Amino acid sequence: TDHFTYDPGFTSTGSCESKISFIDGDKGILQHRGYSIEDLAENCDFMEVAYLLLKGELPNIDEKAKFETDITMHTMVHEQLHKFYDGFRRDAHPMAIMVGVVGALSAFYHDSLDINDPHQRMVASYRLIAKMPTIAAWAYKYSVGQPFMYPRNDMRYAEDFLHMMFAVPCEDYKVNPVLAKAMDRILILHADHEQNASTSTVRLAGSSGANPFACIAAGIASLWGPAHGGANEAVLNMLTEIGTPDRVGEFVAKAKDKNDPFRLMGFGHRVYKNFDPRAKIMAKTCHEVLGELGIKDEPLLEIAMQLEKIALEDDYFIEKKLYPNVDFYSGIILKAMGIPTSMFTVLFALARTTGWIAQWNEMIEDPSQRIGRPRQLYTGEVDRDFVPLHQR
Ligand code: CMC
Repeated sequence: TDHFTYDPGFTSTGSCESKISFIDGDKGILQHRGYSIEDLAENCDFMEVAYLLLKGELPNIDEKAKFETDITMHTMVHEQLHKFYDGFRRDAHPMAIMVGVVGALSAFYHDSLDINDPHQRMVASYRLIAKMPTIAAWAYKYSVGQPFMYPRNDMRYAEDFLHMMFAVPCEDYKVNPVLAKAMDRILILHADHEQNASTSTVRLAGSSGANPFACIAAGIASLWGPAHGGANEAVLNMLTEIGTPDRVGEFVAKAKDKNDPFRLMGFGHRVYKNFDPRAKIMAKTCHEVLGELGIKDEPLLEIAMQLEKIALEDDYFIEKKLYPNVDFYSGIILKAMGIPTSMFTVLFALARTTGWIAQWNEMIEDPSQRIGRPRQLYTGEVDRDFVPLHQR
């Protein structure tokens, strides 16, 4: 018989070597290529972080300018891709559209793509990073029945995305710089997070040599679930359902009840057992953005703060080491920016695409790379006597 370790949920299995992201879950540390997430979120913009993840170093001024030009060259999508949107019901969830449309990109870039050529891999990576805001904004435009806005290469990455989301052809629209900055920060905080479910999915799909655009679509599918990226949407729905701060206790009690499957969305993490450093930056950003937008007394923020306070003092959450995670505060900022709840996870996908594609490149370059092929513990029947159909 074969010998292997049985490890459901891969809680103690390292699947690869990586130089991209480092997490110390006990100390609440996250670093990308050795730089702390705090330093990156405070001092860099998303394009610099994307460059860092992909290439291993922070860019200098010239490298950054060239990178941004290279990315903007690819922001448009093939005109035929419009037609894919028309195939979806108008009320389709935008994540469903993302899985379909990003997967469809593989049909536009397949035959000519040699994944063993580093240059071609880099072009595919640029294409993905560049086209995601366009594809994501169009998923939203489709749902509200407005014309698609083309990307604007005179705008920065986050600004361009917000422009494609909210501008309409019949009037001038200027993106609020406070919102563009906040969006950029949210993208940085979601850019990469070592071997989480969606990144592992991208690596596993890619380990067979599959088309990278199709692999990213697989990552988007994995991200969609409420235990992963779908949590940001679920948090806002939960806060809305709680409704008033005095009902927080009731929901905390529900979350603790063993017989109730309800969990506090935006709480807990497989690796962080002290705090999620991204959540701290997100909470701070949330207060800043609401302040700068002049939004006072946001009821959802009050409920969130109350929830955090009660949960952090509660024995159940202390014992199980459950703390707010990155998704806990992001939804409140996104809502304040006018982003509809159903788009929250799409934004996560947009940001994480840089991490996914950096990890995919690292995997393809790794000489020890083999097809991912977990084993199983078979618990079914064996050696049964076959009974012909008419005798069963
Ligand atoms: N509320 C109440 N109880 C919880 C929660 C929660 N949010 N999270 C975990 N627990 C309990 C769980 O019931 C279990 O209790 P017991 O040991 O008595 O069975 C214990 O804590 C350990 O939970 P687990 O499910 O075994 O832990 P995991 O590492 O498999 O899951 C998690 C991690 C993030 C999926 C989980 O904490 C969760 O479902 N959280 C809510 C969803 C969420 O916010 N997800 C976003 C994660 S961070 C960003 C991202 O990846 O997108």
